[in-house]
Amino acid sequence: MLKVALIGYGYWGPNILRNIMDNGLAEVSFCCDLDKKKLERAKRRYPAINISTDAQAVLRHPDVEAVIIATPVSTHFSLASEALRAGKHIMVEKPLAASVKEAEELQALTQKYPKQTVMVGHTFLYSPPVLKMKEILSSGELGKIFFVSSRRVNLGIHQKDVSVIWDLAPHDFSILFYLLAEEPAVVRALGRDCVKPGLPDVAFINLKFPSGLIGNVELSWLAPTKLRETIIVGSKKMLVYNDTETVEKIKIFDHGVDFKDPESFGEYQLSYRTGNIVSPKIDGYEPLGAEIAHFADCIKTGKTPRTDIKMGVSVVRALEMAEKSL
Ligand SMILES: NC(=O)c1ccc[n+]([C@@H]2O[C@H](COP(=O)([O-])OP(=O)(O)OC[C@H]3O[C@@H](n4cnc5c(N)ncnc54)[C@H](O)[C@@H]3O)[C@@H](O)[C@H]2O)c1
Repeated sequence: MLKVALIGYGYWGPNILRNIMDNGLAEVSFCCDLDKKKLERAKRRYPAINISTDAQAVLRHPDVEAVIIATPVSTHFSLASEALRAGKHIMVEKPLAASVKEAEELQALTQKYPKQTVMVGHTFLYSPPVLKMKEILSSGELGKIFFVSSRRVNLGIHQKDVSVIWDLAPHDFSILFYLLAEEPAVVRALGRDCVKPGLPDVAFINLKFPSGLIGNVELSWLAPTKLRETIIVGSKKMLVYNDTETVEKIKIFDHGVDFKDPESFGEYQLSYRTGNIVSPKIDGYEPLGAEIAHFADCIKTGKTPRTDIKMGVSVVRALEMAEKSL
């Protein structure tokens, strides 16, 4: 069985460890964190695992084949490059790195280690509703896509080291780039540091894609209700994805407006269509478990991960464009 080490046992790390242990996806050689108290918590829960505060030693340990990095973004570049140099497969939590420079350097480094799997933890691309949307878009059911609009807001945890853009936009960017199979040429953002000076906690981001498609992403840690919604408007149908819904997460609206060419000078007609609303059946499983299983499978088969380093770099590029625009 694949032997992995988890670096970072803060908020997200315990979810990763639980998925590995509960589903028997791999053997955990080490759980590593700088904070001993967090490690003791992990040891109490899983008495058989080894714990360590020394990431360098863990990264080089012969009992470790793959490393999952779930530490703050500022540490991703150094930990990921050391793990690669030590011959390990790596899965780096989103976002891949703290700048395009770091992300591209990491990408260049991976060329030297083509046999090692490199994956980025864009978990939503393993979630059943996102996979269903990809299927719907690929089938052409929505027609030509005109625009997308996404909202990810709630009374969220203000991160210490990154803005709301670096914290939340990786989710929307990875979902949109995957669904639309293109990355934006233009990224513009307006934002504000409402609570802590210098730390933007609300942002409105505009995107323009090479195909002409436009998009809007609203992000905030300062909202009264939790919204996780993506609207995709096509020439034939429209789709609403609401991740806070328990059952009908996706709804496809057979709605639209058809334009008829004028028969005589200056006369044109618009016909409005409001047809059926269909909610497709969606599988139910935890995306993080599927993501880790995919990582293990890519290592075994040599397949390129769905969320490969190219996707990781694209997301970081868009994040940096948004932050520069602010
Ligand atoms: N995929 C997702 O849906 C998802 C969700 C939440 C967070 N994340 C990502 O996971 C990562 C961690 O986020 P978090 O919210 O858990 O952060 P966190 O601050 O709660 O936890 C990070 C942990 O890493 C430890 N750490 C820092 N530097 C270390 C080092 N050099 N060696 C060992 N341990 C070290 C810290 O002590 C801390 O316990 C971020 O990249 C974040 O964006 C992803």
